[in-house]
Amino acid sequence: LSVKSSLIEPDGGSLINLVVPDSERLSREREASELPHVKLTQIDLEWVHVISEGWASPLKGFMREDEYLQSLHFNSMRLKDGSVVNMSLPIVLVIDDEQKAKIGGSSDVGLIGPSGDPVGVLKGIQIYKHNKEERIARTWGTTAPGLPYVEEVINPAGNWLIGGDLEVFKPIKYNDGLDHYRLSPQQLRKEFDKRQADAVFAFQLRNPVHNGHALLMNDTRGRLLEMGYKNPILLLHPLGGYTKADDVPLDVRMEQHSKVLEDGVLDPETTVVAIFPSPMHYAGPTEVQWHAKARINAGANFYIVGRDPAGMSHPTEKRDLYDPDHGKLVLSMAPGLEKLNILPFRVAAYDQKEKKMAFFDPSRPQDFLFISGTKMRTYARNGDNPPDGFMCPGGWRVLVQYYESLQAE
Ligand code: ADX
Repeated sequence: LSVKSSLIEPDGGSLINLVVPDSERLSREREASELPHVKLTQIDLEWVHVISEGWASPLKGFMREDEYLQSLHFNSMRLKDGSVVNMSLPIVLVIDDEQKAKIGGSSDVGLIGPSGDPVGVLKGIQIYKHNKEERIARTWGTTAPGLPYVEEVINPAGNWLIGGDLEVFKPIKYNDGLDHYRLSPQQLRKEFDKRQADAVFAFQLRNPVHNGHALLMNDTRGRLLEMGYKNPILLLHPLGGYTKADDVPLDVRMEQHSKVLEDGVLDPETTVVAIFPSPMHYAGPTEVQWHAKARINAGANFYIVGRDPAGMSHPTEKRDLYDPDHGKLVLSMAPGLEKLNILPFRVAAYDQKEKKMAFFDPSRPQDFLFISGTKMRTYARNGDNPPDGFMCPGGWRVLVQYYESLQAE
């Protein structure tokens, strides 16, 4: 008999798992081969992965129109019992006119992966209009040209959305040597139970870990111990799906993160490193809700948030796209996230007086150095080291090698 887990309840009460049992795989694949099909892009497949493992629980498939509208207009979804769960990003599958015509009146469609292999089925489908402008404006709060996900994913896609219940034939794998890091919410919950965690605090990131990030995580651990928790476990949870071209690629980040643990910046004894399979939208305060909600499903009851989460520079103006404080403010008020403890943090920067990363002190701004991704790249390109105490040496070496390999191209 299983021990009752003390972890936070997943949204909707139970975790969705849409992978068919091994014993049924062949017959389901055979049935699906008779259906009209939709060919998935790599990013569609990443969303299939996300939905099938229950990160978006209780969402059971690509959104139908009612779910899409609730997500777009309310950043949440109302369940049959009247309760509300957070759902800030539309999780949708796009098809074009030709695919729509091929599907005709079929109620189910087969899903074919980017490499031509059968992935799953979408059942009880509904096809509805994909008003791109409305989706973009509501998700990002702007239709300025140059938003990475919009340019690369939405604009080239078709004018219809197809929703329905998802069924996946087998767990999604990437065979890139990193699959062992891709723990499902269910696997993560098992791991936290095994470690007898009495609190789980999640850290979402898409960048290499510098000592400012580490400050947030270590400070949180201290606070949780002070609150009386005996065994708080950190979920270091880099995002593994689509990212924009100038972000550091996943394999390099995973190597960098390993060094951060090896060099003792974070404690391997109390840290679980895993990959969050979602693609990145760069939709700031709207997206950070998704990042937090998904971690509830993975068993986290504390969520760290700092400066400008899921943010980027404005694509056409010289400023941040979002107010860097809005992410944490929105998170602390977001509908459906009431049960999650939000841990908001001030911006950390390099304190040139103390020679370490520290929380920015507005009374002596001249002492602080902000080291952006662009600045890191400049250091690496010129063969310079960042100031001592910015990042552990092992982690920095991984980045230097990466930036050198870019120059060689
Ligand atoms: S994100 O897109 O995943 O949010 P990033 O990897 O840069 O981007 O950030 C991970 C987390 O660290 C977010 O919660 C972000 O707010 C926080 N963060 C990043 N840099 C800083 C900083 N200098 N000071 C405080 N918080 C930061």
